Amino acid sequence: MSNEIVNVREYEALAKQKLPKMFYDYYATGADDQWTLRENIEAFARIRIRPRIMVDVSNVDMSTEVLGFKLSMPIMVAPTGHQKLAHNEGELATARATSAADTIMVLSSSANSTLEDVAKTGPGIRFFQLYIFKNREGVAEVVKRAERAGFKAIVLTGDSPCLGHRENDIKNRFTLPAHLTISNFEKISDSSILQSKSDKSSLAAFADSQIDSSITWKEVAWLRGITSLPILIKGVLTGEDAALAVHSGVDGIIVSNHGARQLDYVPATISVLEEIVQAVGGRVPVFLDGGVRRGTDVFKALALGAAGVFVGRPVVYGLAVDGEAGVRKVLKMLHDEFEVALKLSGCCQVQDIKRSHVWTENDPLR
Ligand code: FNR
Repeated sequence: MSNEIVNVREYEALAKQKLPKMFYDYYATGADDQWTLRENIEAFARIRIRPRIMVDVSNVDMSTEVLGFKLSMPIMVAPTGHQKLAHNEGELATARATSAADTIMVLSSSANSTLEDVAKTGPGIRFFQLYIFKNREGVAEVVKRAERAGFKAIVLTGDSPCLGHRENDIKNRFTLPAHLTISNFEKISDSSILQSKSDKSSLAAFADSQIDSSITWKEVAWLRGITSLPILIKGVLTGEDAALAVHSGVDGIIVSNHGARQLDYVPATISVLEEIVQAVGGRVPVFLDGGVRRGTDVFKALALGAAGVFVGRPVVYGLAVDGEAGVRKVLKMLHDEFEVALKLSGCCQVQDIKRSHVWTENDPLR
């Protein structure tokens, strides 16, 4: 049998073999009972595709536009923290691979690489994910640095006033190795907490002491006042919050449950996507992350109204196994699978994907 890796899940098994348990668990696991972690995957599996046949698909165009940027595909890279635990080039390798795939990378606030070093990897469309730390002036400075370094949007994560209860990180007494830090916030926070043992995980201890848990929709206006970059809000799971997000003036919404790492027993993102798309009513684009592992998942999300998807863990696993080449391969496999899904459903371009191409449990039996 050949050792060829043929789908993104295979990277997870390889990453598990390769990484120390503390790091693998940090990447792989979720909060509490991890119900939502399983549900993010299973909810995709419950959706059926309704393909149309006898369509001329000899010319397929998978490109799309996100906030006016032309991408090769509607598949982007979600912000995931501490990528140097996976590979010594961490976010720099991810940035290069994502640019090569002609798509968007979101750099995490918990990155181990600076905004400037990521920018130096070469041209690419990059967004910066923001946690609002208690040191507000410091946060404003980091946002300005992102802008100066050529980042194209701010992705404000709204679902993390504290860290989710991640039992594996607690059991492992997760701590960051001494040579790593959260590079962009080093000067404005006490990052030594991340390297110190705590009775929970050091990530939770750090969040408790450094992250501003008082933030509200007003912070969107605050951000507007300090940056001219578009602002996306990440972590929306209800139609109510989607309406508030639009009202607050965001430029886009990411339906996300943080990869099931924050509140357990929230629904899978794909299960609430349609509710949010309806509440938004086309005023801003709606994106989704959580459990996207196949080209058919991308297809399903687009059929239910997403303007694009982000992938988190598969990218980290590719990075862990094979650095930049691993991330390139993950993005290529998803790209190629999505192309097959398009063709076999009778679609030539992203806009051809319609609601009628999928059946969900909310639909009448056919
Ligand atoms: C994350 N995620 C995340 N989100 C965020 O806004 N800021 C962050 O720093 C991180 N860090 C992070 C680390 C790791 C290891 C994971 C797995 C996830 C959440 C991430 O952006 C995204 O919402 C999920 O990863 C999407 O789900 P999948 O693709 O991992 O199933």
